[in-house]
Amino acid sequence: MTALETRALLMQLEATVEDNLDRHLASAEDWLPHEYVPWSEGRNFAALGGEPWSAGQSRLSPVARTALELNLLTEDNLPSYHAELVTTFGRHGAWGTWVHRWTAEEGRHAASIRDYLLVTRGTDPERLEQDRMATMQAGWDSGDKPLLHACAYVAFQELATRVSHRNTGRCCGDPVAERLLARIAMDENLHMIFYRNLVQAALEIAPSQTLRAIADEVAGFVMPGSVVPGFARRAVQIAQAGVYDLRIHHDDVIMPLVRHWRVFEAVGLDADGERAREDLAAAVDALDARAARFVERRAEAQARGR
Ligand SMILES: [Fe+2]
Ligand SMILES: [Fe+2]
Repeated sequence: MTALETRALLMQLEATVEDNLDRHLASAEDWLPHEYVPWSEGRNFAALGGEPWSAGQSRLSPVARTALELNLLTEDNLPSYHAELVTTFGRHGAWGTWVHRWTAEEGRHAASIRDYLLVTRGTDPERLEQDRMATMQAGWDSGDKPLLHACAYVAFQELATRVSHRNTGRCCGDPVAERLLARIAMDENLHMIFYRNLVQAALEIAPSQTLRAIADEVAGFVMPGSVVPGFARRAVQIAQAGVYDLRIHHDDVIMPLVRHWRVFEAVGLDADGERAREDLAAAVDALDARAARFVERRAEAQARGR
């Protein structure tokens, strides 16, 4: 897509952005992060005469700790995501208003999860800070995705973070953490709906190009947390525990959106569009097969008592 075509598409989609911005602002609930943190549990660390952190102080299971850290470090990289969106969507008009509003909402996520973890001594604060520094210094580079690819990616990514926060909350074994993560997941859900509707509108304006974007983003999906130190190890741990795995990614993230957009029922596609749809079908099948193999291997390992 040329710069001129992108410009035209941004203008064509602006009315949809405006409508969805209004819908979003009407349905988004303002919430106060400080209301979700059990401050009475807080106490000083060593430098202020208190006790240094030790693993025994955390009431979180190792899996819950990993999942919360990964979600937090992913949220921490917000400046990079903001830069990506501003580059793709611009900072003017309804697009710009959306990007800034979205960024302000996302800012609550890292702040509240970090407060929770520090106050409850849920994880090693020193290592967490080192990992935050490393994550933010790595930054997030989506590889200059074209506009439609960026829209498809964020729709999947917002749903992925919603599912990840929700499932992490459930595995924490702490009603306070579960309440906080359910609240954050509601934000991610509204973000997903915004982008889902945007992709829907794009499918009507440029069906073949939008289908190509969806197919490419399903085939090449990478979690935004992939730059977090030790991501592969952490991802395996949460997949083994069923917090976020390939089965969940296929069933709860990719398929609900693919079904919602009715891409397999669309008629009147040109040759490029048909090819994109075939590629999407192949990518979805391949993901399903990988998910099946993963679940099988996990069950075998569990049966062996590992
Ligand atoms: Fe978030
Ligand atoms: Fe979000």
